[in-house]
Amino acid sequence: MQKLKFTIYSLIVLILGFSSCIISSEKNTNSANLDKAIEKKVDSVLELMTIDEKVGQMVQYSAGWDLTGPASSKSAQDKLDKIEKGLVGSVLNVVSVKEVRAAQELAMKSRLKIPLIFAYDVIHGLKTMFPTPLGESASWDLELIRQSAAIAAKESAAAGLNWTFAPMVDVSRDARWGRIMEGGGEDPYLSAEIGVARIKGFQGDDLADANTIAACAKHFAGYGFAEAGRDYNTVTAGEFELHNMILPPFRAAAKAGVATFMNSFNDIDGIPATGHKVLQRDILKGDWNWNGFVVSDWGSIGEMRAHGYAKDKKHAAEIALNAGSDMDMESYAYEASLKELLSEKKVSEAHINDAVKRILRLKFQLGLFDNPFKYCDEEKEKNNIYTKEHLAVSRDAARKSIVLLKNENSILPVSKNVKSIALIGPFADNKDMPIGNWRAKGVYNSAVSLLEGVKNKVGKNTKIYYEKGIDLLIPTVKPGDNQFLHPLKINKNNRTGISKAVAAARKAEIVFLAIGEDAYQSGEGRSQVNIGFAGLQNELLEAIYKVNKNIVLILSNGRPMDISRANEIVPGILVTWQLGSESGNGIADVVFGDYNPAGKLPVSFPRNVGQEPLYYNQKNTGRPYNPKNVTYSSYTDEKKSALFPFGFGLSYTNFSYDNLKVNKEKMELNDEIIISVEVSNTGKVSGEEVVQLYIRDLVASIVRPVKELKGFQKIYLNAGETKTVSFTINKDVLEFYTANRKWEVEPGEFLLFVGGNSTTKMNKKITVN
Ligand code: BGC
Repeated sequence: MQKLKFTIYSLIVLILGFSSCIISSEKNTNSANLDKAIEKKVDSVLELMTIDEKVGQMVQYSAGWDLTGPASSKSAQDKLDKIEKGLVGSVLNVVSVKEVRAAQELAMKSRLKIPLIFAYDVIHGLKTMFPTPLGESASWDLELIRQSAAIAAKESAAAGLNWTFAPMVDVSRDARWGRIMEGGGEDPYLSAEIGVARIKGFQGDDLADANTIAACAKHFAGYGFAEAGRDYNTVTAGEFELHNMILPPFRAAAKAGVATFMNSFNDIDGIPATGHKVLQRDILKGDWNWNGFVVSDWGSIGEMRAHGYAKDKKHAAEIALNAGSDMDMESYAYEASLKELLSEKKVSEAHINDAVKRILRLKFQLGLFDNPFKYCDEEKEKNNIYTKEHLAVSRDAARKSIVLLKNENSILPVSKNVKSIALIGPFADNKDMPIGNWRAKGVYNSAVSLLEGVKNKVGKNTKIYYEKGIDLLIPTVKPGDNQFLHPLKINKNNRTGISKAVAAARKAEIVFLAIGEDAYQSGEGRSQVNIGFAGLQNELLEAIYKVNKNIVLILSNGRPMDISRANEIVPGILVTWQLGSESGNGIADVVFGDYNPAGKLPVSFPRNVGQEPLYYNQKNTGRPYNPKNVTYSSYTDEKKSALFPFGFGLSYTNFSYDNLKVNKEKMELNDEIIISVEVSNTGKVSGEEVVQLYIRDLVASIVRPVKELKGFQKIYLNAGETKTVSFTINKDVLEFYTANRKWEVEPGEFLLFVGGNSTTKMNKKITVN
């Protein structure tokens, strides 16, 4: 019988393999129009599968090296045996054509020869590193973001991979949360736009294209709302907050056809996301009609025991499957218990079949059934990774992600013929920090350092005095070590280099002070209560300031930082995040005026960590302001506003906004209004400006934020040029998840704001009938 089935299967594969040539050019979308030919193939394979093989498809193993979570106890050999028996659906952390081919060859020895999918955390590049996702989001440049994801996909596909665990689309409002560096910031609209751009980049128009890979919208849901910014912590968002603030980027991702979702470690209001039926079955697979598959986060099924939600691993498997988690990453819960749970009727075969179909569907869409070794091409691996073209885009992404926060007396840009520069700080000649956290195959110490970037730019007559001044970290991690196993150690005592740095600053015309955060100060498990300058960096800043006030702070950061003191004393501030492989060149392009900075903050920078979580799209409260006494919503020892607000960023030129107009002031529910504004470049150089549209729904069935971003356009203006920018206001812009528990527009008055950052006051009032 077994043998007969195999022959029939081979026949089906042959026939369907042929027909797939005809359909391969069709687009893969998630929507109702599923590819019928693929569905037939999926069904035909499912019919041949034993229950063990079905459960096997729902299992994902990590290779055991390059661990990204607590080390597993399973031996590598055991895993390889299971692959050979067809009991594994996917592996993560197996990278390179050689490794992928070896694992796939094992899978091809299995009875049904169902190919493995190879997953990896390609978060901001595979080997050509781009700015960290939060940094790149500061570009507000969707085409650039799409392009960088497309390059990451091309390099990944060339290394044998088919699937990345990105983009992270968690709206994140708390600078203490280390993972804020992985997403698109604090706004749901911006996060959705950026998430979709990344998905389009990774997946292209066709998953079967050998240069594209499947994307994964994560972490579903609420992970970015971890209480107190502490990683993995509980989330207490209510239903309306969930729908209006947390879910929009996920909804957009599902609509854009993202191939997979990953659920999250946190609980929401007492229900772990991994076991959350409403989220996964009702909303994602039901209301949104999405037909990709959900992978658990690393070990998150098993972790429902620690949450106090499952009594043992078997119970956890039951909860997870019933709630709609299709693939078990590294909990070993599905493989151990699903079969038994099925015989006990605690889970249904329908749910198992549905999960397996979703997984097989993606394997067909990727073309892996046609050719399991499709992504195993040594030539491509040699030629498509870390190319000059990719590095050129990385440089462009670097400079476009930089945000100019302060430029007193036009300290920037600096002339290339400046007599002398003191380049000071632990990041001044650091080639590793810019590679950032989640660096995939990014090579240790491979970025262009700031010192190198500056040297590439200035003339022979410029003297450069480089002094590190201090070390920020006492090294504990060797290159290649699993960074999760090493807490960071900050240097708090060794100040021996400070005097040399002071001497350098004293003799230089201008100081570039490169301080901030190292790569591993943000990222998973890297939450901090302190978001100022760690270690001896403040001392270094004050010492330099005593001898030279002409300082440009070149900030390295994964998260928004408290830079209040520096802002008081330093005339120039550039936010340079962790910018990737071409960091130093990108920064030098901006510093010396070859590129006019246009980045805008995707997150608020606080005055003090005590303001966190801080976000512009807050509610007004019943007591927004009272000039007469203290009983209003504020702090007695600090302002409530951000030091630098969401959407803020300067340019070397100036922009003015005039003539804000609406074509009418009243509209019916299904009608639209056009709002327009004239934006002029009033300075002496050309530049780009991100024109932003915000709305405020004045009275609603659920209290609405004081402002919500609803559109933006990045425009280029020559010196003296004026352009009219317009936005269409319609149902999509005005609707929200109302007290009726649906997305709709509520009639009433709205304010429409337009400007260059979230504090703009320029507005028009409209009425919707
Ligand atoms: C992270 C995920 C990541 C996974 C696999 C987890 O610890 O939360 O974002 O994709 O590991 O590496």
